[in-house]
Amino acid sequence: MKITLIESKKQPEFETNIWGIFQDEIPLNMSDPELKDLVSKLGKKGVFSGKTGEVRSIVYKSDDIKKDIFVGLGKKKKVSEDIIRKAVGTAVQAAEKLNTIKTGFIGFADRCKISRDVLSRLIIESSLLALYKFDKYFSDKKETNLKSISLVYDKITVAEKKAVKEGEILAECTILARELVNEPANILTPAELANQAQEAGKKYGFRTEILNRDQIKKLGMKAYLSVARASDNPPVFIIMRYSGDPENKEIIGMAGKGLTFDSGGYSLKTSAGMLRMNGGMGGSAAVIGSISAISALKLKINVVAVVAACENMVSGKGYRPGDIIGSMAGKSIYIGNTDAEGRLTLIDAVTYLIKKENATKIVDIATLTGAAVVALGHIATPVISNDDKFYRQLEKASARSGEKIWRLPTFEEYKELLKAKNADLTNSPGNPGTITAGLFIGEFVESKPWLHLDIAGTSFKDKDQSHLSRGATGAGVRILYNLAKINSKGLE
Ligand code: BES
Ligand code: MN
Repeated sequence: MKITLIESKKQPEFETNIWGIFQDEIPLNMSDPELKDLVSKLGKKGVFSGKTGEVRSIVYKSDDIKKDIFVGLGKKKKVSEDIIRKAVGTAVQAAEKLNTIKTGFIGFADRCKISRDVLSRLIIESSLLALYKFDKYFSDKKETNLKSISLVYDKITVAEKKAVKEGEILAECTILARELVNEPANILTPAELANQAQEAGKKYGFRTEILNRDQIKKLGMKAYLSVARASDNPPVFIIMRYSGDPENKEIIGMAGKGLTFDSGGYSLKTSAGMLRMNGGMGGSAAVIGSISAISALKLKINVVAVVAACENMVSGKGYRPGDIIGSMAGKSIYIGNTDAEGRLTLIDAVTYLIKKENATKIVDIATLTGAAVVALGHIATPVISNDDKFYRQLEKASARSGEKIWRLPTFEEYKELLKAKNADLTNSPGNPGTITAGLFIGEFVESKPWLHLDIAGTSFKDKDQSHLSRGATGAGVRILYNLAKINSKGLE
């Protein structure tokens, strides 16, 4: 896709013009007389009022090339970044349906409380995300005609140019994560996930190191290896390093759950429950996508992201319910349920980040619990944290990225549930499932500031939405990029 910023005086003719219109500005404040006339006519006919969610495409009979798309943005005072994201996505999908090749956003939602640079980022990011489809496996797929998106403003500054670049990269890296999560498990094995991470490293500029089973064994990652044991596809431990601020000792350590398939193991899932369990690597896709964006945009910060990639399968080699296993940190774990495997891979990943990479802050992200879907659905990501300041930064990152979060409590009574009869901890402490799963990982963070994001609900959507096609959402990429940006030097 060609993305351009154009000053109005140099504005070329687009096939399709996209107009974002505020409900309370019709037709009073519309400066362009032709447009004012057109919109007020539509208003009188009762076909366009500017309410949020409204889209109206006009194809002119006299000229079968030129088209206009009007999207409603609601009341000007109530406009939000969310409203812009949805409106942009809907509009660009409408432009694609009209077989447009070149489209331009003209003064879209301009002069409202959202600054022009933020608007520019939102428009580019949301357009690209709205056009993504996972269609690579159709033998007869329809190519899109849309090749170019332009933003038109009366005057363009460096701030808009930077914002457009950021929007483009964030969309690209979110789409990278969506591609990885949409990929079926027969294609995206742990080794292939590692390949993809290496490719992303080459493209965006971070270093990668891949450890095999013997190297993982030497590190003592007993919990992770117990999960990986049953599969014929061997585990790979993926390390991604980006040093944007080498003099600084601060290192953000990120661990993404990388279960390329989760059958449940001997605590086998049902047929329905096992479907889509290729998505057990949504957390790894999030860390690969965000470190890609962090590197591409050269943030002044150090990040190490790791993925303990493996499959949770059933075989004579598999770990069993009732087993007591070890971990890299030395704690023993009673296996109450072999389907609570993600946390076992994550604790060794977190211990590795602290002991071997000297991470000073820890973020883990995982499609960890069905209970997260019960609690917050597909709308928001539940978060557990031991540090108010770090959590507040995540809240800020959430506001900037549009990825919604909600903090869950960490009362002492919940921590009590982690105790096992004959071992230090149990991997299946029971309800509330999202909290106890998070706190289980929290036992391994050695009092470092820590955030745990359970994206079981937010990483995947069953239904098409106006601004996002169904399937993987790329949850985590943009919020983690923004978290890194807030922690970085010079840019804030
Ligand atoms: N990957 C699943 C969690 C999940 C479930 C994600 C549904 C998306 C949709 C995870 O590995 C799992 O199996 N969790 C179990 C834990 C339980 C056995 C303690 C769960 O949530 O049922
Ligand atoms: Mn599981």
